[in-house]
Parts: sequence; C-alpha cells; structure tokens
Amino acid sequence: MFNFFLYLNFTLLMRVYTDGCFDLFHYGHANALRQAKNCGDHLVVGVNSSESAKKYKNNPVMSDEERIHVVKSCKWADEIVPHAPYFLDFAMVKNLDCQLVVHGDDEIVDADGNHCYADAKSANIYNDFERTKGISTSEIVGRMLYKQNFKSKKSNFDEYHDQLIEKFMITPTSKKDKVVVYVDGSFDLYHAGHTSILQAAKETGDYLIVGLHNDNEIKKIKGEYPIMRTKERKLCLLSNKHIDEIIDDAPYVLDDDFIVDNQINLIFCGEESVHLYKHLTCDVKVIGFKNQFYYLNAKLICERIISNYMEYSKKVKKLN
Ligand code: CTP
Repeated sequence: MFNFFLYLNFTLLMRVYTDGCFDLFHYGHANALRQAKNCGDHLVVGVNSSESAKKYKNNPVMSDEERIHVVKSCKWADEIVPHAPYFLDFAMVKNLDCQLVVHGDDEIVDADGNHCYADAKSANIYNDFERTKGISTSEIVGRMLYKQNFKSKKSNFDEYHDQLIEKFMITPTSKKDKVVVYVDGSFDLYHAGHTSILQAAKETGDYLIVGLHNDNEIKKIKGEYPIMRTKERKLCLLSNKHIDEIIDDAPYVLDDDFIVDNQINLIFCGEESVHLYKHLTCDVKVIGFKNQFYYLNAKLICERIISNYMEYSKKVKKLN
C-alpha cells in the first residue's frame, strides 16, 4: 500500500550519509556525527566492517558489534548501516536514498591513491567538515601504551572542550512524575559496555541521570588518573541519546540527601557494584545489571591494542 508519510520522508528530507570506523569512540567521532547531521535532516551512518577497515587501514581494536552499539547510541545518528565498506560504495548510497555524502576534511585514499569518496565527488554530492582538534584513535592508543596523559594539569584544549560542551548540550526536560534512574561512573574509554548499561537504565525508567566522577575523584579512589579527561568523557556522554541530565563531580559514595535532592527512584549499576549502595536508607531501589558487553574494560582494551600492534609489526617484518 502507498505510504504517504514514507513518501514525504524520502522526498522532502535531506538524507545524509557519513561513514567511519569509529574505533575507540571519542568526542571527535561524536562531533563528526553532530556536524554530519547538521548538513541535512536524516543522518545515515555507515560503520565500517573490521574486515574492510583491516584491508584499507588497520585492524580495529573494538569488534563490529561493539562499535555498532556505540554509534547506535549517538543522538545524531538516525539510521545505521552495519558492516559498511571502507571504500564508498556509491550504488549503496543511491539505494539508501542519500542525497549527500559527508566526511571529515582529511584525505581518505586507498593504497593506490584513489580517493575513497571519488564517485560522490564527481557526482557533486560530497562535502566535508572540519575535523575535531586534539583527538584521534591513535592518540588514545598512545595515551594507553605510554601513559602520555596528564603531563600537565590543564589540557591545551580546555577552552575548545568548553565550546564543544555548549554545542553538545542536552535539551533540558522536566523529571516531574517520571521514574528517575541514576547511573554513576567514570565512563573512561567510552565503549559498548557503557552504552549498553545506559540504554538498559533508561528503558527501566523514563528519566536518566548520569553522575560523572571527575579526574581527581578517580585518582583518589583508584590511585590512577583515567585515560580520558573529565571534559572528554563528558562530551561522549553528552552525545548519548539515552541521557537526560549529567551531574558533574558526582561523589563515589552517595548519601541519602543526594538521592532525595535529585529525586532519584532507582540506581542502576553493574552486578558487581550493588554493594556500593547498600548503606543508603532512603526509599531507593538498586538494580544490578549484567549487560552483553560486561567483559569490556580498560585493561582488556589495552591488551587488544598490544596484540594488534604485534600483529602489525609481524606484517611489516614480512614485507621487508
Ligand atoms: N573525525 C573527526 N575528528 C577527529 C577524528 C575523526 O571529525 N578528531 C571524523 C572523521 O573525519 C570521519 C569520522 O570522524 O568523518 C569517523 O572517523 P574514523 O573513520 O573512525 O577514523 P579517522 O578519521 O581515522 O579518525 P580516528 O583515528 O580518530 O578514528
């Protein structure tokens, strides 16, 4: 049957296609999706398959499933193309009814120097946007392997991060008569374990507050600074579609006043963390949850990076 609304959707809306690997998702990726969405009305995001990324670039640290889950949770992504090719498939873009293809302003070429977006360029439907300064997947890998972070207390990008925070801001909504769910954490190296628990938390209630621990609080409790700074971690959370409010400098140990003041009905956490809230005496329910990506943590991610690096070194040795 002819669907008038679907027809309108396809004819009046500007559908934009962007793609990427989105490995070790960071605020540069989030800002790319924000800018891509601003180029039209409906954003279709291709998440490169590991197979394709490995052929043209390098083996991603995170699996297809893990990267897809994170991109799906982004508030600017309307539609996802999983396992998308690294080299743009122009016929696929046409089939998706996208009228524009956008990408960051770095030159993306294959081993023979062919521009991955050449077809879209010749068809005059290609645009680029400014890449986000100071962050990349390789930079994060460097921070993890060589502990390059926090050489100075103040980041060189502090003001830039503030400007991005303004642009990423969540539109405030009222929590009156809503089931308010609270999740806290450091959300370092924002990954599918995080996006999965945030999604489940939101589905359990209808207003999601995230309490974000700052760098000093993390150092105090864990003895080490996180890989990503507070503002970098906040930017990833601000790009998440499930979150309604973020509380900065959230305490590790909550008290009853905090729960009451923030009108929290439910605390959502990983199964292993339920005991951290046992001391609360106010009327709040604590739910421990095991998400499908529960195995992800900074240590595992670091191990994967090292194993990828070894594999890459072997490949280079073979070529020489
Ligand atoms: N991007 C950006 N700013 C950054 C990093 C990435 O705007 N600092 C953009 C890219 O230009 C692309 C999208 O994010 O449009 C997805 O990038 P991706 O394919 O994942 O990788 P890279 O461009 O190699 O960036 P990175 O190494 O940080 O993943």
